[in-house]
Amino acid sequence: MHVIGGTASTALAERVSRELSNAPFGIPFTKRFPDGEMYVRVGGRLEGEDVVVVQSTRTDQDLLELILLEDAVREAGARHVYVVVPYFGYARQDRRFFPGEPVSARALCRHVELGADAVVTVDLHSAQTLTQFTKPAYEASGIPAIARLLRERPVDLLVSPDRGGTERVRRMAQLLGKPWFALDKKRIDSEHVELKIPADLPQGIEGKHLVLVDDVITTGGTIAEAAKLLKKHRAGAISAACTHGLFLRDAFERIKAVTDDVYATDTLGNAAEKASVAPDIADILREHFPSG
Ligand code: R5P
Repeated sequence: MHVIGGTASTALAERVSRELSNAPFGIPFTKRFPDGEMYVRVGGRLEGEDVVVVQSTRTDQDLLELILLEDAVREAGARHVYVVVPYFGYARQDRRFFPGEPVSARALCRHVELGADAVVTVDLHSAQTLTQFTKPAYEASGIPAIARLLRERPVDLLVSPDRGGTERVRRMAQLLGKPWFALDKKRIDSEHVELKIPADLPQGIEGKHLVLVDDVITTGGTIAEAAKLLKKHRAGAISAACTHGLFLRDAFERIKAVTDDVYATDTLGNAAEKASVAPDIADILREHFPSG
């Protein structure tokens, strides 16, 4: 198995190749034509090989590069092309909210899978998006990676900032053998939320080390509000952990100001990247595509 790291996911792709018993790893040559169009070229002997292309699609440019890479790898004679999209952009528009809108997540699934034999992604915004692929598609979770990290750190209680994240926090709690609870969240607009401690909280939080667990941190509004609320209720220390750290604008600083630590996985390169999902992606590749 060969691993190619697109420009959005070079470091993670290299970690995946190491996890696959040091599978040959390469990065494509990329440049821009004078008219601004993108050019990519892959190297190495890919003929007859199973090739894994790793590329998060945070920006439209990342997405275009992925589509070109899939085609380049196929042209180079790869036997199978497995596409790993650690952060799958456009996944939030997973249904038509208003007439005239697209189901962007579905549209992207269809385009990403076009040049691929199978797709692997990590913590999609909603699980049903996986069913939009018509080819084999698998979802890794960022939870085990964060749990491996938290095992080395003091943790008393895990907290989901909303009830929608209950399954996630429950899974983390199980891996760490710690209790958990979920806050009640009401979204006011894309940047503001209202949070409440649930009335049926089984135990106090005073003096405890709490870890907020979320799938994605975007503007940081949710985590910052949650941390302020928990502090008001006398939490001892607060950490924030997520799979995908988008950290738009000043989100990272905003969260740092009200927490003791911020942890993210390496699906997107950022300052909080402290846990790797490479072993979890490699497990899926080994299990479903055993030539590696
Ligand atoms: C909500 O469904 C998600 O799990 C996150 O809580 C949310 O997307 C975080 O967004 P922000 O950082 O902008 O509050």
